[in-house]
Amino acid sequence: MKFNPNLLDCASAPIAEAWSWVGNPDSQRLIDMCQAVPAHLPPQSLRDYLGDAIKSGEAATYTDIRGIAPLREALAANISERYQSSIESEDVLITAGCNQAFCSVIDTLCDKGDEVILPLPCYFNHQMWLTARGVIPRYLSFNAETAMPDVAEAESLINTKTRAILLVTPNNPTGAIYTPDCIDQFYQLARNHGLALIVDETYRDFIDIETQPHALFSKPDWRDTFVHLYSFSKVFSLTGHRTGAVVAGLALMEQLKKIQDCTAICAPHAGQLAALFGLQNLHQWKLEKSEELAQRAIAIKQAFDHPQLDYRVISAGAYFAYIQHPFDAAARDVVKRLIQQQEIISLPGSYFGQDQEQFIRLAFANVHESRFEDVVDRLIASQN
Ligand SMILES: Cc1ncc(COP(=O)(O)O)c(C=O)c1O
Repeated sequence: MKFNPNLLDCASAPIAEAWSWVGNPDSQRLIDMCQAVPAHLPPQSLRDYLGDAIKSGEAATYTDIRGIAPLREALAANISERYQSSIESEDVLITAGCNQAFCSVIDTLCDKGDEVILPLPCYFNHQMWLTARGVIPRYLSFNAETAMPDVAEAESLINTKTRAILLVTPNNPTGAIYTPDCIDQFYQLARNHGLALIVDETYRDFIDIETQPHALFSKPDWRDTFVHLYSFSKVFSLTGHRTGAVVAGLALMEQLKKIQDCTAICAPHAGQLAALFGLQNLHQWKLEKSEELAQRAIAIKQAFDHPQLDYRVISAGAYFAYIQHPFDAAARDVVKRLIQQQEIISLPGSYFGQDQEQFIRLAFANVHESRFEDVVDRLIASQN
């Protein structure tokens, strides 16, 4: 049989490849800073609730294409509170995770040959999906001093094929948190050119959850431009239950429902119930986890401030630290060597787009800060 040539052009799933370099995955010494996964299970109360919902059969059915009404209402209320705005359940469609949300939104907006502007480095699954669909990614260069994308550069890339600008904040892989002003400038640019501004906010619960990440939801006409992507995976430790969301205006929703109907039909029912339970009952738990991670971001920066260490933190926040390595070598080789000689598993910057050979990504959310000193000692040992 023959395959989609665009898909053949995509790199293989990166996490699996990085793990294939690990000699002994069961080694007690291994420090796993590879994949962004929560370090803890969901709380017992959620697991008990979900167990009952599965036993009763409640979770076994399809739901409305857009998701169950109480979850859409609860997420709309959560966003309204966090962003001090007025979001309706009609603005919300629940997806099978945020990755599916992204793929479906791209399919809603883009034809083969259309273009999407996104900053480097970028989340590899975004890049893979654009490539697989024949959508052309137009990259904004990486500024290693600020880790912020430049709106003037984005403007210079816009042409008749451009359909959307894509931002991820807090960012994967850099951990950078884009300022409300930066996000606003991208919104104005997208609006002025009739483009969608897609903002993936998977990690929005791991920065100060009492503050507003941006003010876009308060704009009277946000529904014409802004598309918010969200994930319940990390916030309630539900990665396997596949629950995320798209928040957007009615015009996009109408098209999105067609895609959802043909692909997932609906997001997994059990995951939707779990997400609803989380929104209704786990605010305090979420606050604690968010504070823990904020502390961890500070701790990793402090640990890297070591006179013998030649690795440099470019930025760190939410789940990730983006690190400049000191070698004149490809990032893949640096990561392989760190695995084989120091038993630290990370990801090469080159998985996140072009011009990233000097960087590696550490997913520090998986590792307690008490181990950071050991991480730094091993990195120093790798310099010899
Ligand atoms: C930026 C970003 N978006 C989406 C996802 C996937 O989220 P989900 O598990 O909800 O599909 C991830 C997971 O690593 C991510 O980093």
